[in-house]
Amino acid sequence: MTHWSLLGRRVLAVGPGLAPLARGPLFGAALEMAGLERLADARAGAQDLVVIDIDAFDQAALGASLGALAASGAAPPVLVVGERLPAGLARTVMRLAYSDVLEAPYSDEQFQAAVYGLLDAAGSQAAGAGASESRCWTVVGAVGGAGATTLAIEMASALATRANRERAVCLIDLNLADGAMAAYLGAPAAMGLAQFGPAAERMDAALLAAFTTPIAKGFDLLACPRDPLAFEQISKEAVLRILEIACEAYDFVIVDLPRHRRPWSLEVLAGSDEVFIVSELTVPALLAARALAGEVEAALPLGARARIVLNRLASRMFGPAPSVSEAERALERRAEAAISSDWEAAAASVNLGGPISQHRPKSKIVKDVNALVDRLVGGKRPSDRRSAWSRKAA
Ligand SMILES: Nc1ncnc2c1ncn2[C@@H]1O[C@H](COP(=O)(O)OP(=O)(O)O)[C@@H](O)[C@H]1O
Ligand SMILES: [Mg+2]
Repeated sequence: MTHWSLLGRRVLAVGPGLAPLARGPLFGAALEMAGLERLADARAGAQDLVVIDIDAFDQAALGASLGALAASGAAPPVLVVGERLPAGLARTVMRLAYSDVLEAPYSDEQFQAAVYGLLDAAGSQAAGAGASESRCWTVVGAVGGAGATTLAIEMASALATRANRERAVCLIDLNLADGAMAAYLGAPAAMGLAQFGPAAERMDAALLAAFTTPIAKGFDLLACPRDPLAFEQISKEAVLRILEIACEAYDFVIVDLPRHRRPWSLEVLAGSDEVFIVSELTVPALLAARALAGEVEAALPLGARARIVLNRLASRMFGPAPSVSEAERALERRAEAAISSDWEAAAASVNLGGPISQHRPKSKIVKDVNALVDRLVGGKRPSDRRSAWSRKAA
């Protein structure tokens, strides 16, 4: 499971020196500052995470408390921070089911990476018990007009048709100031950020439903009305909270991510199970896609790759466009998919309002997107393979 936000997570912080983390990398968490006496009684059901400042305590006393915690067999994930970790204490830490050690000094990013790593490890263990988790796919254009919004809509539509049940797919337009998704779908944009921002902390699935617009069976849209100040009005925590709740409520969350980096862009990318970079077959777009893929991959868990989708594949009759293999050479990697060009179908659908799959179901765009989705979800309906739909650990 992947996390975007610590809002509502119960964190026991053992050691007074940890208090400033509440305004930094632990922002939003329900933080309880505690002394050593609380450590041995911490339990996975009561706390999501324990952070211990080893430099604040006497080694023997800390060793005894940690030993008791490990012996309980029900310890929450434990992150130990400090300048020196004596070998005896390290052995006790290793007896915990989920633990990590961070040497001071550390950056906020290093701290957060350790926290999410622990929550992911503990979360994926719990999810292994059969709980179904959602998947989040993020789509971003290499250049403006490449087709990111169009393909995000078609992927969402294809996934919802496959699922054929309520709350299958939530499509989220994070182009908060001037997103076109609602207009493309001929739907009202219901997410008013002015109301949403303050509501984010108490957001749950029921409240989220008030902000979504139904598009088709099992297919809901979350988008804001046009507002030039929208990006300034919503905090990073609120954006990440929206995604987290959407992932709890839906099987699939498809995000249309703005090309220009926002304060929350890297977290959104890091929390996504797949990132699609949409490029057209022009030299500038391919160069931008290659650069963007590198930038995106720096934010992804080690080894994870962005998938490049080449859009508007046209016949060479219309001029000297690169071929797919030439494009792949420029990209220095294979493309995940190539989507045919069909201006008539794309234009008709945005003018009528709705997915291309609805207005021009026979379009090659629909066929190509279906093939891509089939390949990635195995071509089966979710009910056939619930367990395989678990969100993978970051
Ligand atoms: N495969 C395609 N064939 C033809 N037209 C397309 C295709 N994909 C997108 N378009 C059109 O290209 C234009 C830009 O697409 P859009 O999805 O808004 O791009 P972006 O979100 O990357 O800026 C729109 O008019 C859209 O209808
Ligand atoms: Mg767009």
